Amino acid sequence: MKILLTGAAGQLATDLSAVLKDAGLSVRGYDSKSLDVSDGKRVMEEVSMVKPGIIINCGAYTKVDLAEKEREQAFAVNKDGAAHVAEAARKVNAVLVHISTDFVFDGLKSTPYTESDATNPLSVYGESKLAGETEIMERMEDYIIVRTSWLYGKSGHNFVKTILKYAAERDFLNVVYDQVGAPTWTVDLADALLKIVKSVQEGSKEYGIYNYSNEGVASWYDFADAIVEEARASGMNLQCGAVRPILTSEYPTLARRPAYSVLDKGRVKNTFNLTIPHWRASLRKMLRQMGPGKKEDVLA
Ligand SMILES: NC(=O)c1ccc[n+]([C@@H]2O[C@H](COP(=O)([O-])OP(=O)(O)OC[C@H]3O[C@@H](n4cnc5c(N)ncnc54)[C@H](OP(=O)(O)O)[C@@H]3O)[C@@H](O)[C@H]2O)c1
Repeated sequence: MKILLTGAAGQLATDLSAVLKDAGLSVRGYDSKSLDVSDGKRVMEEVSMVKPGIIINCGAYTKVDLAEKEREQAFAVNKDGAAHVAEAARKVNAVLVHISTDFVFDGLKSTPYTESDATNPLSVYGESKLAGETEIMERMEDYIIVRTSWLYGKSGHNFVKTILKYAAERDFLNVVYDQVGAPTWTVDLADALLKIVKSVQEGSKEYGIYNYSNEGVASWYDFADAIVEEARASGMNLQCGAVRPILTSEYPTLARRPAYSVLDKGRVKNTFNLTIPHWRASLRKMLRQMGPGKKEDVLA
């Protein structure tokens, strides 16, 4: 069963592509240039030609703050793009695996969000991702939407790389402690997606929405503090002497973010028999894999 992967040059898709190929699966990846999901005609043409059994849609507009100024662009990719991919998947009877976000929630809860909790995005990015989910659900039944949070991996821009860059140059860092969620290593999510893909290939029809993040809970401050500590333990030479907690009000951003966006992962764990690593263990693993000699990879 062929797998067609969109947004293949992104941070999640890069690790996902490697994990799927290592498992011996046939993956055809497209970056944003070779397959622009906002171009419906082109998506239909390519999908009809390749006839994949599974499409994994990692193509997304992910610049959360810029989206406040680029609403049209965010919706063209995250809403219309999702609709185009769903339309094409339906035409060739492919199962669609689509990646979504914790930013569909408003963060007003204080216990983990389940898949059936009411959505209420606070940002244009969150709105556009939620609109993409809706487009998919209106078009087909054979979809698996995976909502995830706080992604980081070796490729792409992410919080871990930003903290390492600043920690290498600065004496201290101020990081918000009143936004709480769960960091997610792209490799762990890729492993989970491999299990989901395999179960689809084996004929499972467990369609619907699933939450996935690493286990545990952290504020961005806790996460930053752990990044500095674990990076030092793995041999990186950092200047930063202290990570200081600040309030979101002291660090204004264009987009509003949920104050609490921990995801309940019971459904994905039970359905696909997953064991999910704790975020800190995964962070340590990634930093150790890079090691002191490979710091430049992280800072690239
Ligand atoms: N990063 C997070 O913290 C986070 C959290 C929750 C959920 N998610 C979701 O997880 C998924 C993967 O995110 P990521 O962190 O891997 O993001 P990423 O690194 O920004 O990857 C997204 C990829 O989509 C591509 N893309 C943009 N416009 C496209 C288009 N019109 N057609 C096809 N591809 C297009 C981008 O290519 P260009 O670079 O060429 O534009 C990029 O390679 C996304 O759906 C995102 O919404 C991410």
